[in-house]
Amino acid sequence: MSGTVTTRSRKASGTLVVNRVLVSAHAVAIIGQPVFAGGYLGGDYDMLWLHRWGADAVSYLAYAQILAALVLWLVRGPRWLFWISLLLAAGETAQYLAGMAGALDLHVPLGVALVTGVVLTTIAVWRPQNWRAAR
Ligand code: HEM
Repeated sequence: MSGTVTTRSRKASGTLVVNRVLVSAHAVAIIGQPVFAGGYLGGDYDMLWLHRWGADAVSYLAYAQILAALVLWLVRGPRWLFWISLLLAAGETAQYLAGMAGALDLHVPLGVALVTGVVLTTIAVWRPQNWRAAR
């Protein structure tokens, strides 16, 4: 027995939609970060302000995503999104602190890894999901 089902309630479907929208918004926000950073490094100093604003948006979206993924877990949806969201939020918190400290040797490679992680999560969350059967 696999213990998974593919049918679910309307509430569970709605929760999955909310998670998909949040993860996608998170991806758009984090993809903007290297764009703003590149503009700043190219000499447009206003871009640092946008990068700082983007960092706040990315962080709020990451924390909202943890809560949404927890609700998805509770309505018997997939659990993997909760653990991935926790990992991404931890990495993004470190990223924020590295940015404030100007530690670019950590900030740039971690940023590339985080952008990749959020994009892969977006692709994965839009795929069909397994639902756990009620006990
Ligand atoms: C590939 C992605 C990223 C690149 C290449 C990048 C690059 C940079 C660069 C060049 C700076 C300027 C540092 C300095 O002048 O000392 C910076 C600052 C900063 N970054 Fe990023 N970053 C990226 C992603 C992120 C993300 C995802 C966050 C948030 C989670 C973030 C948060 C910050 C913060 C808070 C600062 C300090 C801004 C300030 O001093 O006002 N960065 N980043």
